[in-house]
Amino acid sequence: MAKNRRSNYKCQSCGHSASRWFGRCSGCDEWNTCVEEIHVEKDSRRSHLVPNSSRSQLDPITDVKTHDYARFDIGISEFDNVLGGGIMPGSVVLVGGDPGIGKSTLLLQMAGQLAVEGLKVAYISAEESAAQIYQRAERLGALCEDLRVMSETNLTLIMDQITRDSPASVVIDSVQTVYMPNLESAPGSVTQVRECSARLVYWAKESGIPVFLVGHVTKEGTVAGPRVLEHLVDTVLYLEGERHHHFRILRAAKNRFGSTNEIGVFEMREYGLREVNNPSEILLAERADNVAGSSVVCSVEGTRPLLVEIQALVSRSAFGYPQRVSTGVESKRLSIIIAVLEKRCLHDLSGEDIFVNVVGGLRLDEPAADLAVGLAIISSFRNIPIRSKTIMVGEIGLGGEIRPVSQVERRVAEARSLGFKRCLVSSSNLKGWKHPKDMEVIGVGGLEAAEELVFT
Ligand code: TYD
Ligand code: MG
Repeated sequence: MAKNRRSNYKCQSCGHSASRWFGRCSGCDEWNTCVEEIHVEKDSRRSHLVPNSSRSQLDPITDVKTHDYARFDIGISEFDNVLGGGIMPGSVVLVGGDPGIGKSTLLLQMAGQLAVEGLKVAYISAEESAAQIYQRAERLGALCEDLRVMSETNLTLIMDQITRDSPASVVIDSVQTVYMPNLESAPGSVTQVRECSARLVYWAKESGIPVFLVGHVTKEGTVAGPRVLEHLVDTVLYLEGERHHHFRILRAAKNRFGSTNEIGVFEMREYGLREVNNPSEILLAERADNVAGSSVVCSVEGTRPLLVEIQALVSRSAFGYPQRVSTGVESKRLSIIIAVLEKRCLHDLSGEDIFVNVVGGLRLDEPAADLAVGLAIISSFRNIPIRSKTIMVGEIGLGGEIRPVSQVERRVAEARSLGFKRCLVSSSNLKGWKHPKDMEVIGVGGLEAAEELVFT
């Protein structure tokens, strides 16, 4: 046995390591996530992630050289915005998301766009063959000589190639399928994923070439998810959306070079992802007025207001235990809203099945959507449509009170621009800003008051 060979037991969910096998991880309390990993090479340890750290000395901040830190744009404005205004040289961006959501499509489109602008891009796929990438690129209109492709899983060979080629940007699809041959653990294990990413991070910082990594998120946690490397990279983006819907949202979970508030909205089309600059309009395009169980909320994602339709269906349950099903709204939040409706508005929903859906496959995390969810449920239960051209924003408290929300001015302005005439907000949200003239802004203190106003 090699002298420097040692084994280590690692949790594949959180990366916690121990010298003995364990059934339950003491780091994250998950069961059966332990895998033995054998390290052969000693010098493969991440000795330093930041280049030139051996030149350790303290310098005045005014002496720091920033000359080569000019960002460059991709040319896909939704993507550029999420990155904080284009690509930062030497940065490492992790694009995570469920399998099949469109990560490869987005990055190949980006690579194609950069290549069209005359920048050489290396697109390395460890999942697809060069022919498959060609077919996809053809579909996306990204066939360009400056887009260099390679189908390879061995990271040592990949690094040799990109070092020789020195492209303007590198895409590695995906970080779970590449491997370092001198580590004995399987591709996709925590050790491999971390080690490969650490090498790439080091390479990016040293060369100043930005690297995009694709990472799959799996629910089971059997393959090391990108979560273990979130702290290694500069930017973490998530591509989200319902697989069967067209909309995809690109969201920053971490960004060392910009805010994490911006989102990018895309639509998956036959020829790739298309930017959506006016999402509210498209989200409401198919909405029919005067239908019971439908309400509209203006949600703010970062700095971006989005008008979203919420649909509810309340129907008599055939079984003793009524169903509560929600897509796009957290189920715990839904239970709370239903409990408040029963207690404060005295609706007997205990024998009703309740289904709530956010149109377009979007996910609403904001409590500002509570009021619209609650009123959609009442509307369906009473079978009365909500007044037309009305939106509502407000958080529902456990006492049935409507709580104020942030950025109310922006929300109202967005609703107004799409022809809405009335907006229900918390009474505490009325003060401190100028209401637009052609918009009736109504303050409500509680859920009962909102219910009285919205159905007349
Ligand atoms: P993909 O980028 O392969 O997903 P990921 O890399 O995140 O696993 O996208 C796969 C889905 O996107 C697939 O179901 C087909 C769809 N798609 C389109 O609808 N239009 C297109 O132009 C392309 C390339 C893919
Ligand atoms: Mg892919």
